[in-house]
Amino acid sequence: MNPVDAAARPAPPRINPLQRIWLRELGMERLWLRTPPAAPAIKTPVAPAVGASAPAPVAAPSALSGGAPAAAPQSAVVAPAPAESPSAVPTIAPPAQAAQVSAPAATPAEPPSGRASSAIPASILNRTGPPPRPAPKVEVQEEAPPPIPVAEAVKDANLEQLAAQVVACSACGLCQGRRHAVVGQGAQPTRWLVVGEAPGEQEDRQGQPFVGRSGQLLDAMLAAVGMSRERDVFITNVIKCRPPGNRNPKPEEIAACSPYLMRQIALLKPERILVLGRFAAQTLLGTDATIGSLRGRVHHLKTDEGAQIPVVVSYHPAYLLRSPSEKARAWQDLKLAAREL
Ligand code: URA
Repeated sequence: MNPVDAAARPAPPRINPLQRIWLRELGMERLWLRTPPAAPAIKTPVAPAVGASAPAPVAAPSALSGGAPAAAPQSAVVAPAPAESPSAVPTIAPPAQAAQVSAPAATPAEPPSGRASSAIPASILNRTGPPPRPAPKVEVQEEAPPPIPVAEAVKDANLEQLAAQVVACSACGLCQGRRHAVVGQGAQPTRWLVVGEAPGEQEDRQGQPFVGRSGQLLDAMLAAVGMSRERDVFITNVIKCRPPGNRNPKPEEIAACSPYLMRQIALLKPERILVLGRFAAQTLLGTDATIGSLRGRVHHLKTDEGAQIPVVVSYHPAYLLRSPSEKARAWQDLKLAAREL
C-alpha cells in the first residue's frame, strides 16, 4: 500500500479482544485486519485462571497481528470458564469482575489496540461457539460494624435522643414485627411515671402508650386522683415494641429493652412510679413475688444516680377490665400513690 495513502486514511476505530472475536465470528475480522490501528497497546495486569496455570502466551499469527511481533501477554484478564462451559476454556472477564470489589467504572478504560490483541490465547481465537456471555456481577458487601449495646448507647442520651434510639432500635427480634416502637407519652417534667408491660395492637398502630381500652380505663383511674397524662404523668412500658400476639416478653427482650426505661427514669426524675401489672412490677423491682404480695405497700427504686424513688404497684387495667371486682383494690393503690410519701 502506498504509505501516503495509508497516512491520509482516517484512523480506524479501536477494538478490544472481545470485539475482535465477535468480528471473527461474523467473518469481518479480515476487513479489520487490513487497517490495523497504530495506537500503542495499553498494559493491564494479568490474572491467572483459578485452579489452572496461566495460559502460555500465544503469539498470534502475523496475519492476525498485522505483521508486528506479539509482545508479552499483558492485556487479557483470564477468569475461570462459566459453569455451563463444557471445557475449561478461559473466558475474558470484564475488568469489574476481575477486580471483584469495586463498582464498575462509569467510563470503561480505553480498549486495547489491535496489536495488544496478540495476547488472546489460541483456545479463544480458534473457538467456534457463540461469543462468551458477560460474567455475572459480583457484589461485595461491606461488613456491618458491631452493634453498640443499648446500655452503652443510652448512657448520655437526652430524652429526644433516647426517643430516636428507641424508634431505630433493633436490639431484639421484636423490631421485626413492629409498626411503631412506643417510647412513651406525657408531661415533661413529670410528677408520676406510669409503667405498663408492652404495647398492644392499638399502641403498636398509633405509636403511643395505653391508647386502647386499657388506656381509657387508666385515664379514668388517674383522673379519679386528679392526675392527667398531659399535665402530671408520663406513661411508658418496660418493653417498647409489641410482642407478637401480646405474648409475654422473653428474658432476652426484657434485658435488651430495660436500659431505655432506666434512662427514662434517670432523665424524668419522677416523684413516684406507679407500676401496672405483675410483669412490670417484677421486672422493675427485680423480684418474682406475686402481685398480691407486692401491692398495698410502698417500695423504693434505687437509681444509679443515688435517688430513691417511691414505687407503688397495682393491677394492670387489662386485668381490671376482665375482673372488675378488683377495681376496689386498684382504687386503694391509687390513693396510696397519691398520698404524701
Ligand atoms: N398494655 C400495656 O401494658 N401497655 C400499653 O401501652 C398498652 C397496653
